[in-house]
Amino acid sequence: MTPVAARPAALDRILALLADPPADPDTGAGYLDLLGPVDEPAPTLAQSVMRSSFLPRIYERVWRPVGFNLAKGWPAGPDTAAEQALLRRRLGLGARRPCRDAGTGDRPDATVLDIACGPGNVTRALACGVGPGGLVVGLDAAPRMLARAAAEPVPQDGPAIGYVRGDAVDLPFADATFDAVCCSGALYLFADPWAALDAMTRVLRPGGRLVILTSRRPRLPVTGLTVSTAGRAAGIRVFGDAEVTGALAGRGFADVRRDRYPLAQIVTGRRV
Ligand SMILES: C[S@@+](CC[C@H](N)C(=O)[O-])C[C@H]1O[C@@H](n2cnc3c(N)ncnc32)[C@H](O)[C@@H]1O
Repeated sequence: MTPVAARPAALDRILALLADPPADPDTGAGYLDLLGPVDEPAPTLAQSVMRSSFLPRIYERVWRPVGFNLAKGWPAGPDTAAEQALLRRRLGLGARRPCRDAGTGDRPDATVLDIACGPGNVTRALACGVGPGGLVVGLDAAPRMLARAAAEPVPQDGPAIGYVRGDAVDLPFADATFDAVCCSGALYLFADPWAALDAMTRVLRPGGRLVILTSRRPRLPVTGLTVSTAGRAAGIRVFGDAEVTGALAGRGFADVRRDRYPLAQIVTGRRV
């Protein structure tokens, strides 16, 4: 008989957060798969790149720093480490940089969701602002991204970290489950970003914080039009300055604020 590997404890904790937990959870790939076989073709060029076997291999070392740092206005804008510290701070997590060692006091034992986590780069960065009693969940739809995320070692002195294959637009979690929700580098990929925002709001507990890192349309009309047109062709939506802040305010978020960069924005709010 083939021995069955024990399910990581983090996945058991995640199963307890689901609105409708499966009777026979599929965790064989190292993450909880709630979507099953991939049979639909990718709807856009950008989404097919996300699903490729190539991007996960170069994402963290090349694609992410080059693409995102340029969008944030490198060298004037924050580099990856400064951006990650900012995300943690906006979410009310421990924000020290580099991440603090175990045993220090400013890391809450929070339950955190990282939506569209890709290979887990932001998930792990959030985890280093969470205490050892906390739980950080990365959710993505792309199996190859998740395989990479799940293969990364989890620091012993930090919170539990686990990954779920699910749809950001139809989050599988029960209402008011998370203390903090992050969606970095993905709102612009979703077919319906506003439905995704509704789902993020639903799973956030009252008082919990949401942070979104997404695209931004430059104000200069010609540049703005060029960026939007190129984005649309690739399947990337480029958000206007007040679009995402307005969407949070319209959903009753308080303390809505935006950090603005040439082609990117970080929007934060607190659920009332
Ligand atoms: C550019 S990566 C972002 C990775 C990471 N969050 C970051 O900031 O670097 C975008 C991710 O969004 C995921 N994604 C796109 N649409 C999705 C959806 N509807 N549900 C879940 N994940 C989705 C893709 O699979 C991809 O891994």
